[in-house]
Amino acid sequence: MNRPLAIVTRALPDGWLDTLEGHCELVVGPADPGGWCEATWSRLPEATGILAMLTEPIDAAVLARAPMLRVVSNMAVGVDNIDVAACHARGIAIGHTPGVLTEATADLTMALVLAWSRRVVEAAADVRAGAWRTWSPTGWLGRDLAGARLGLVGFGKIARAVARRAQGFGMHVCYSRRSAGVDHAGATRVDLVTLLATSDIVSVHVPLSEQTRGLVGREALARMMPHALLVNTARGPIVGREALLDALVHGRIGGAALDVTDPEPLPPDDPLLRLPNVLVLPHIGSATSGTRRAMAELACANLIAGLTRQSLPHAIPRPS
Ligand code: GLV
Ligand code: GLV
Repeated sequence: MNRPLAIVTRALPDGWLDTLEGHCELVVGPADPGGWCEATWSRLPEATGILAMLTEPIDAAVLARAPMLRVVSNMAVGVDNIDVAACHARGIAIGHTPGVLTEATADLTMALVLAWSRRVVEAAADVRAGAWRTWSPTGWLGRDLAGARLGLVGFGKIARAVARRAQGFGMHVCYSRRSAGVDHAGATRVDLVTLLATSDIVSVHVPLSEQTRGLVGREALARMMPHALLVNTARGPIVGREALLDALVHGRIGGAALDVTDPEPLPPDDPLLRLPNVLVLPHIGSATSGTRRAMAELACANLIAGLTRQSLPHAIPRPS
């Protein structure tokens, strides 16, 4: 019997796809730069499964080209690159990788908080540039984390992992979320308006959806305190691009520390990159070798299940 064809959109390190062996015929795209290429696009008509990254849209054009598709397995926890409703309408299962990247992403969130608050990037650049002349009582002064209030917008696994870390640093943690869910000892639930108005650091931890696109826009930013830091390790478009730039330029908030932007990457001449109070990283929340490998393994397990129409270990639930 012919084995089903699966497309892996980006090449991954040796061994990361080993579990697929024997389950399917594989077409693997190049490692970089991402996006659909001739090698993967041309095989879509035969594909039963796709193992995609967040750089490959699974949209109407892809779905129209792939009539045999049974499963899209995203090597990410977020699925905003996928037209979820269109897949579900066609009975195509969608897999993602929650849980395995929680700790790494929470670490990176704290890395942004620490780096911005203590001016780590700027201070290290000064040392390299020979600008460190002497110890100075007023040199590179930053902000204390102990006693500061951290507001988490959304309270899923990643936000709760950030809460644990922040409490270790002596921060007061509050959070807002729309639905019921798991609480966390010592973290206070507040409404979003209160969170924005009272937090020294506001950190975004909701998935990108039509409900959350632009959630942190002009109105939300206007509620924040002039010294407050905005941190985003979720998805760029949750924060209004023009509104953020405006708030930063006019000193309505203290700064931004972003692992995700809109668009990605930012063009090198983007005005955001010129502002001294902004720290931008290239979407590396889950970028440790252990975590990325675990994500690949989960994505393979979801793909294998989907190829044979079994239930996925981690599926995006269909609306009931
Ligand atoms: C990364 O951003 C992910 O959603 O896994
Ligand atoms: C990720 O796993 C989350 O739920 O935040």
